[in-house]
Amino acid sequence: ALFKFEEDNLKASLKSLFTQAVQAAYPENFKEVSLNECANSGLGDYQFNDAMHLFSVVREVGGCDVKSPREVAQNIINMLPVNPFFENPSIAGPGFINVKISDSYISSKILQNFNICEPRERRVNTAENVNYPRVIVDFSSPNIAKEMHVGHLRSTIIGDSICRMLEYKNIETLRLNHVGDWGTQFGMLIEYLNDEHDDFVDTIGDLQSCYKLAKKRFDEDTEFKIRSQAAVVKLQAGDPKMLEIWENVCQTSRNEFETIYEALNVRISERGESFYNLMISGILEELEQKNIAVKSEGALCIFSSFEGTPLICRKSDGGYNYASTDLAAINHRIKYEKADWVIYVTDSGQKKHFAGIFDATERAGWLERCEKSDVRLSHVGFGLVMGEDGKRFRTRSGEVIRLKELLSEAESRCYDELKNRGTSGLSEIEMKQTARKLGIGAIKYADLQNNLSTNYVFSFDRMLDLKGNTAIYLQYAHVRVSAVLDKTQIDVQNVTPQEFRFKAKEERALALHILKFAESLDSSLQDLMPSRICDYLYTLSSLFNDFYGSCKVIGDDNEESRIILCHATASVMRRCFFILGIDPVYKL
Ligand code: ARG
Repeated sequence: ALFKFEEDNLKASLKSLFTQAVQAAYPENFKEVSLNECANSGLGDYQFNDAMHLFSVVREVGGCDVKSPREVAQNIINMLPVNPFFENPSIAGPGFINVKISDSYISSKILQNFNICEPRERRVNTAENVNYPRVIVDFSSPNIAKEMHVGHLRSTIIGDSICRMLEYKNIETLRLNHVGDWGTQFGMLIEYLNDEHDDFVDTIGDLQSCYKLAKKRFDEDTEFKIRSQAAVVKLQAGDPKMLEIWENVCQTSRNEFETIYEALNVRISERGESFYNLMISGILEELEQKNIAVKSEGALCIFSSFEGTPLICRKSDGGYNYASTDLAAINHRIKYEKADWVIYVTDSGQKKHFAGIFDATERAGWLERCEKSDVRLSHVGFGLVMGEDGKRFRTRSGEVIRLKELLSEAESRCYDELKNRGTSGLSEIEMKQTARKLGIGAIKYADLQNNLSTNYVFSFDRMLDLKGNTAIYLQYAHVRVSAVLDKTQIDVQNVTPQEFRFKAKEERALALHILKFAESLDSSLQDLMPSRICDYLYTLSSLFNDFYGSCKVIGDDNEESRIILCHATASVMRRCFFILGIDPVYKL
């Protein structure tokens, strides 16, 4: 693995116990074991159900005298090492092994993890046991002179959350914005600006309309087309006048992108396509020498080792394209940036493109490392954002949605909602700030929560619903727990472990879920699925609401215990909000 699992990853710890047991009981037939959460919580918390399969293998090989999968299960149980997690596993049905995590383990772990009662040194990762990887996340990546659209918004939000997971785990993360700032389109744009605008435009609106008009003229007017092509050549050769116009165009777009990043509170470093321009020819030469890129009908192509259309990496007119740049970029990231893992976040429409780039990278031998494990490449593809009418998300008149307007609409809807309720003790300023956090958070959550591969429908009504699986629901749960912590007089530092016990079943359920944070984080990161953190946080909030609905906290005999649970809940909620890039609110 490229990163270390959390020390407190309960599921991983249990899995390793079962691995040891199976290895001891059936060394010949050992293979990777699996472990699940129990579907029926009455039976236990985790379940091991490989005994049935193992029985069929053992029986086939022969020489073994077990008569049933239950017997296999018993043999495995006999080999389980003594451990702090559970005591007596049980066998159910044909041979499922169920384990129930002991209450004393749950409570002591919670006290320990949240520095309650027994303050201890913060866990430090020592250099010898962690091989820190260096990860590059390529995300957002809008195009100069064009509209930054909902797809880029989604990439920005998902990419930021992936970076946050890595950063949470102390992994060195380089956030790169592969801005589309190079290519033939700049020739026509420069020529058009030269003809019509004295070279410069200040506003993004003007720039975008110029882009459209330039494109139109390019398609209709041959003389203009020839001039535009000549302009690209001049630009790429470093003509100062051309570069100046280009630089100005980039700056105008950049200003626009910045406002979006600021509203979303996303950090990212720009390293656009132009950065790689001078590296392309050398890279293509290397690929040609290695026989990976071959000339075909005038173009330079890479035929992948799998089915599909070849990757064109130099057009027949000699010009470079999107793929040429990506080949140079991936090489640079591995060779010079020393990345151990490169992650790309785009819509799933680019799946084939990246499959081709990754395939070429592997065949070129760029992934091989001497000491460390090989470089890992991932493409995180996500579905389209759809409108409520089931078509691509557009405004009513069919225009692309302006992101700024989208964000401010979420905000103003939240503001109106707060204003209309009129019950909160928020001042006007607090109401504005809260509306902003709620609105932006709701958009982010809607983007993150959806399964990556499916298209999703953008609906303000749905994402701002108080009751569904929405950021607003989560925010309310967080406000509730924060309010309890505000009210109590109990100082948890003075509580002794003996005082932390679960009376109601809701308390134990909440506590166990709190401990599952580590496994949820590890699995989200392993599979690059922030939606798992969303699911985790949603369940946490629901379990907290169940607990809060059935257990009195303030003034109860069990107030101390329950306050500890509230502390741990609030702390884990805030970690999740951090990872999702959502600002939690404390008062509503
Ligand atoms: N600019 C591209 C687009 O708008 C996304 C770039 C993604 N990153 C990359 N290295 N190709 O679709």
